[in-house]
Amino acid sequence: MTATLTPEASAIAKRQLFDLIFAFIKSQCLYTVIHLGIANLLHDEGALSVEQIAEKTNTKPARLYVILRALAHLNVLQEQPGQVFAPTELSNLLITHQGASIGHFAMHLLEPAQWASWNVLQEALATGEVPFERANGETVYDYCQNHDWSGDVFINAMSFLTEHTVDSVLDVYDFSPFKTVMDVGGGQGGLIARVVKKTGCKGILLDVPYVLETAPAYLQQQGVAADTVKIISGDVFESVPEGADAIVMKYFLSAWDDENALKIINNCKKALPPHGKIILLQAFIPDLDEPKVAPDGIMPGVFAVQISVAVPGGEWRTRKHFQALFEQCGFVLEKSVDSSTNLSAMEFGIRP
Ligand SMILES: C[S@@+](CC[C@H](N)C(=O)[O-])C[C@H]1O[C@@H](n2cnc3c(N)ncnc32)[C@H](O)[C@@H]1O
Repeated sequence: MTATLTPEASAIAKRQLFDLIFAFIKSQCLYTVIHLGIANLLHDEGALSVEQIAEKTNTKPARLYVILRALAHLNVLQEQPGQVFAPTELSNLLITHQGASIGHFAMHLLEPAQWASWNVLQEALATGEVPFERANGETVYDYCQNHDWSGDVFINAMSFLTEHTVDSVLDVYDFSPFKTVMDVGGGQGGLIARVVKKTGCKGILLDVPYVLETAPAYLQQQGVAADTVKIISGDVFESVPEGADAIVMKYFLSAWDDENALKIINNCKKALPPHGKIILLQAFIPDLDEPKVAPDGIMPGVFAVQISVAVPGGEWRTRKHFQALFEQCGFVLEKSVDSSTNLSAMEFGIRP
């Protein structure tokens, strides 16, 4: 039976639906100004006319104006008389020429290869394929490795996510009891850099070779002495190196299905001493009675769709689901804390 809405309730419901329907237009306008370097340009040069922007970005002004105007209506840019556009606090956050930023995160999620996944979503739902792989013929990790621009954007997007969340986690989770902390799938090393600097412990950074190419320079840039963090390139499915009394995994187990996640946890266990810990840093899917929006505005249940569409076996899970995986491998949950962003921590110890 269809419930009849009052006119007022119907108007509110339609507003919500219009907002959802138009979301992709907003995203694509954002992608365009970031990818064309317009956010960088306005940041560096201040207000410019649409003709000037078009000339500098090799685009036609008429349609560009429509896009920039939309972004001004969304408060990403400011429109001034005479079709002039000025940067705002929001557009300045999107610049991509001064280190990793939310602009890289936007480009990673919205680039054509990712977008192509959404075009084949329904076919892939029927076949069970990962949409990104159906659309692009390779996994997202291989794609990033084989396409320099996408690889660079991906690495910067991950570094941004780390910078966005790491301090919030270090405020609520104490790494100081550990002598050596290893970040498995740690990317450029943003997290391990902060951990060693805050606690004075040693660090190990484990990731695949192409991601680690730029890690030494990144760590140096973060003020980490070369002998403080050992950089190891390897494959977590083959083995995890020994030497750490704590292993941290941030947004890493969520990239794999249960079968692979269990292999990873077991390989980590083999590398740990009996008193060793695994610290899982994740956004968790809320249970039915929990808030659906994280303190930083991210909805884990929505982000989880992107992961499932792009990442082979990628699965964001509830706390209980992660706990069950660790328990299967002989771990017990010892701590669980939330932070002021989407990231929470669960600490697991080895069952005696
Ligand atoms: C979703 S990213 C998370 C990166 C980082 N932990 C963060 O939060 O920014 C997953 C990371 O796992 C790495 N990775 C993928 N497969 C791996 C493997 N088999 N062994 C080690 N690292 C791997 C990727 O290169 C990437 O840096």
